[in-house]
Amino acid sequence: MEGKKVIITGVPGVGKTTVVNEALKNLKEQGIEYQSINFGTFMFEVAKNDNIIRDRDQMRTLDRAVQKRLQQRAAQAIAQVPGNVLIDTHASVKTPKGYLAGLPEWVLREIMPDIIILVETDDDQILMRRLTDETRSRDKEGSRSIAEHQQFNRSIAAAYAMMTGCTIKMITNADFLLDRSAAELAEVLR
Ligand code: AP5
Repeated sequence: MEGKKVIITGVPGVGKTTVVNEALKNLKEQGIEYQSINFGTFMFEVAKNDNIIRDRDQMRTLDRAVQKRLQQRAAQAIAQVPGNVLIDTHASVKTPKGYLAGLPEWVLREIMPDIIILVETDDDQILMRRLTDETRSRDKEGSRSIAEHQQFNRSIAAAYAMMTGCTIKMITNADFLLDRSAAELAEVLR
């Protein structure tokens, strides 16, 4: 039987990778396996091999046509992965020239997800998490701008549901409540 294809999204710093790792650990203990894939890593590997960039945080500043080509190649590679797959990516990417769709038609056609998950939390909490994360070059933006991005992601997710027939699930990853968000994600993936 074919596995489930689930896409998980959320603005940078919302903690989607943290929630994914926790949920997959819980599921493994129950004998349910998912292959966890980071879409940005696939794109970055292609970009690095082609000598386009050296830092993953530079990807969102690349020319739109280059980002599209990287998206396409990542989607084609990810579509080949068998079994249950959880793909960590973005509903939209904030670029210097506006929002770029993270899951445009040429990506969705390859992956055809069963579910798209939006991980969200309060804008101020995201701002604080970005400010305290020293491992990454996070974009400097205020909480109003983060709110706009989260709102835009809900709108574009509706378009993705129309294109694929997938369901859209919102999960809140609030401060000090990681256990709750991980349990909710595990329930959706079960
Ligand atoms: P990506 O790899 O997804 O990086 P990102 O956007 O920076 O997202 P992160 O994974 O770092 O953020 P996260 O929210 O998951 O953070 P974390 O779990 O670490 O993408 C990289 C690039 O690839 C993009 O910029 C883009 O250019 C490109 N890309 C990817 N997909 C694309 C697509 N489809 N199309 C085009 N381009 C694409 O958590 C953050 C912090 O929060 C941590 O410090 C953590 O400890 C803390 N935290 C988490 N949960 C909690 C909690 N409950 N309470 C308190 N603190 C918490």
